[in-house]
Amino acid sequence: MKVLTTRREFLAKATGCTAALMSAFHISPEIVNAKETRNWPMIVCSRGEDWGQKVNQPGWDILKGGGKALDAVEKSTNVVELDPLDQTVGFGGLPNENGDVELDASIIDGATQNCGSVASLRHIKTPSSVARLVMERSDHIMLVGKGALKFAIAHGFKKENLLTDDSRIKWLQWKENMSSVDDWLPPQNGDYTSERSTGTINVLGIDNDGNIAGITSTSGLAYKIPGRVGDSPIIGAGLYVDNEVGAAGATGRGEEVIRTCGSFLVVELMRQGMHPQKACEEACMRIVHVNRGLERTTQLNFNDKFIAINKNGDVGCASIRGNKSTPPQMAITDKSGFHVYNGTYLVER
Ligand code: GLY
Repeated sequence: MKVLTTRREFLAKATGCTAALMSAFHISPEIVNAKETRNWPMIVCSRGEDWGQKVNQPGWDILKGGGKALDAVEKSTNVVELDPLDQTVGFGGLPNENGDVELDASIIDGATQNCGSVASLRHIKTPSSVARLVMERSDHIMLVGKGALKFAIAHGFKKENLLTDDSRIKWLQWKENMSSVDDWLPPQNGDYTSERSTGTINVLGIDNDGNIAGITSTSGLAYKIPGRVGDSPIIGAGLYVDNEVGAAGATGRGEEVIRTCGSFLVVELMRQGMHPQKACEEACMRIVHVNRGLERTTQLNFNDKFIAINKNGDVGCASIRGNKSTPPQMAITDKSGFHVYNGTYLVER
C-alpha cells in the first residue's frame, strides 16, 4: 500500500473512519474519579523527569507558602521561556521560515474566569507574562504581532533578540535543504534532520483556596509561515480552565487542537463526570475522528497530547502516538513530592 506522506495528499484522499479501527486504541480501562479527596495545592506541567522538576519547583514554592495558583503557573512557565536550551518555547525557540522567532501564549485565572493571550509576539522572552498583562491591564483578551509587542514595551518589557545561535543554525540547515532549485546551498556532507517541532509547555495549578490557573506557551511550529498562529494562544484550544471543573492544556500540532476545541472539550467531558485520564484520551480520539480514522491519522506525521487536572487534583495525560519506552508524560508536584505520571497513547509511534 502506498503510504500518504503529506497532509495535503492525505486530506485529498480522506474518507470515513471505521469502528474496527477505533477499537484498536491502547487506552486505559474505565477510571472513577477519586471521591472526597482533595489534592491541593498542586502544580503539573506537560514535561517528564528532565524539565518537570525545575519547571514545577518555583510554582510549588509559591503554592506551599499559600500563594495564588496564577502566580505559581506564571513563575513556572517563565523557567522554560527564559531557558535558551529549550527550542520550543520562549527565548531560543525555533523561528519561522524567515528566521524570526514568533511566540504564542495564553493564561486563564479560574478564580475570576478571566483570560489573556498573545500571538506572533516577537522580541519578548516571556510571552506568558505579557498574556497575563493583557488579561489584567487591558479590556481585551488577545493581542497579536506588533500590537502585542508595543503593549509589552509600554509595560516595561525589554525588546531582545530571541534567536540563539543553536536555533539559527537549525533554521539555516532547514532552509538550505528546502529546495534544490533555490540559491541556498547546504555545505557538503551536511547531516540534517527535517523534523519540525511543535513542542510547547502547559502548566496547570490549584492553590490552597482551590482556585485553578493555567498557562500554555510556545514558539509554535518550527519554520512556520510568518503569522501562523497555533492552538496555544487560543482560549479553549491550547488551554482551558474552569474553577468548577478543572483545567486542560494541549501540546503538539496546533491545527488539530484548534479544529476540535481540544482543551475545552477535555474540560467539558470532565464536567460531565469523566475522569481527566479518559477525557484526555477522548480528545485524542476526536482528533483521529476528524482526520477520518486511525489508519489515515497514523499516516500523517503529527502528534498531539493533552494533560488535565480536575478540581480535586485527579490527573490525566494522553497522546495520539507513543510507545512503552517514551509514553506521554506529565510532571506533578504536590504534598507527596515530585513525581512523573505516565499517560496513555492511542497508537504505537
Ligand atoms: N501546539 C503548538 C503549536 O502548534 O503551535
